[in-house]
Amino acid sequence: MFRHVDAYPGDPILTLNEDFQKDPRQGKINLSIGIYFDEEGRLPVMDAVRAAETELLSHIGPKPYLPMTGNPAYRQAVQELLFGAQHEAVTSGRIATIQTLGGSGGLKVGADFLKRYFPGSQVWVSDPTWDNHKAIFEGAGFQVNTYPYYDAATKGLKFDAMLSAIEALPAQSIVLLHACCHNPTGVDLNPAQWTQLIEVIRARKLLPYLDIAYQGFGDGIDEDAFALRALADAGVSFFVANSFSKSFSLYGERVGGLSVVCPDKDQAQLVIGQLMSAVRRNYSSPPTHGSVLVAKVLQTPALRQQWADELTAMRERIKVMRQRLYDGVVAKLPGRDVRYFIDQRGMFSYTGVSPEQAEALRTEHGVYVLRSGRMCAAGLNANNVDRVAEAFAAVLAKG
Ligand code: LMR
Repeated sequence: MFRHVDAYPGDPILTLNEDFQKDPRQGKINLSIGIYFDEEGRLPVMDAVRAAETELLSHIGPKPYLPMTGNPAYRQAVQELLFGAQHEAVTSGRIATIQTLGGSGGLKVGADFLKRYFPGSQVWVSDPTWDNHKAIFEGAGFQVNTYPYYDAATKGLKFDAMLSAIEALPAQSIVLLHACCHNPTGVDLNPAQWTQLIEVIRARKLLPYLDIAYQGFGDGIDEDAFALRALADAGVSFFVANSFSKSFSLYGERVGGLSVVCPDKDQAQLVIGQLMSAVRRNYSSPPTHGSVLVAKVLQTPALRQQWADELTAMRERIKVMRQRLYDGVVAKLPGRDVRYFIDQRGMFSYTGVSPEQAEALRTEHGVYVLRSGRMCAAGLNANNVDRVAEAFAAVLAKG
C-alpha cells in the first residue's frame, strides 16, 4: 500500500536538533535550532510566565473549545504588542487577528487564505530565508521565488538589489519579509531602508507578508516592530504572523497569531470570516493554555514589566556572547574579519562556514550549526563560548 511513499530526508533544523539529542558526547554544544538557552545552558521558564501559570493553576476550570479565532483577550494582546495599544489601526478595528498554532500555523492559515483569494499571485522570499517559508507556501499551492538579500561578500544586506527586484514585481505579488532578527542571517534592514522599501511596496501595490518570531531579541520590543507600524502608517494592507515561542520561552505550547491589516473595519470583518474558514478546514480551533498565559502576562502591568525586563536580559546576554565569540576567534585568527559575529542581530548569525566546515564543527568539535552555516548565538554561554571560538577558528583557518 505505501511502497510509493518517498523516504523523508529530514528537516534541516528539526532533524539536526534530534541528532544533537542522540549524540552521546559529553560537552556537545547545540547552536542549531532557534531556541534561547540561558547561561546554564537550560531552557528557561520565565518568572513572569511562571507567576501567571501558578495563579492560573489555583483555579482550574472547564475547558470548552475556543472559538475558531482563538482567545479574545489574547487576540487583543497580540494586536497591542505588535502595533501599540493606541495605534489607529488597532483602535479603528481594521486588523483581523486570530490565534494560531505558533508562527508556522499563522503562516499556513494566511497562505491558505491567500491562495483562495489571490490565486494568480506568486510568493517572493529573501535569499536565503527560513527553510520552512518555502515549504509552507509551496504546501499551500504557491510558486515560491527569491529576491536578493544576503551579500556573502560583506556578510551584510544587498539592499539596492533587493529594492530593484521588489520594484519589478507585478502588483499583488506576495513578498515575505522578516520584521526583525532575520532568520537565518541576522542581517536586518534599518529604519531608513524600511521606509524606502515600504514606499516601493505601496507604489507597486504589493502584498507584504511579515514574519515576526523574534520580537524583543533585536533592539527592543517596540523597536523590532518598526516595519509593522510603518507599513500600517503608510496605509498598506499586509499580513503578519507572530510567535511567542522564543519571547515567552513557550515553544511546546504553540502560541502564535496571524494579523491581517486591512483598509477598513468592514474588510477586516470579511477577512476574519475567511480566516475562520481556513482554521476550521485545518484544525478547527486552537488550544487554550498558552494563549491564556500570554494574555495574562501582557495584560497585567506588573507581569508585563517583569516579562519585558527578562526579555531585555536575554537580548543583552546574547550580545555579550556574540562579543565574546568575536574576541575569541580574533585572538586565534588575528586579522580575520569576523565583525559579522557582532554586527548581525537577534538569535542568528550566518557564519560563512561551508557545509563541509559545518560538518567538521559537528564531528570534530561537537559544535552543531546548520549546514547553511547558521549559528544560533542564544546557545552560547560562559562555559562553552571559548570552546566554540576555538572550534570556529580551527575550521575557518582551514577554509
Ligand atoms: C529555527 O529557525 O530554528 C526555529 O524557528 C525553529 C524551527 O521551527 O525551525
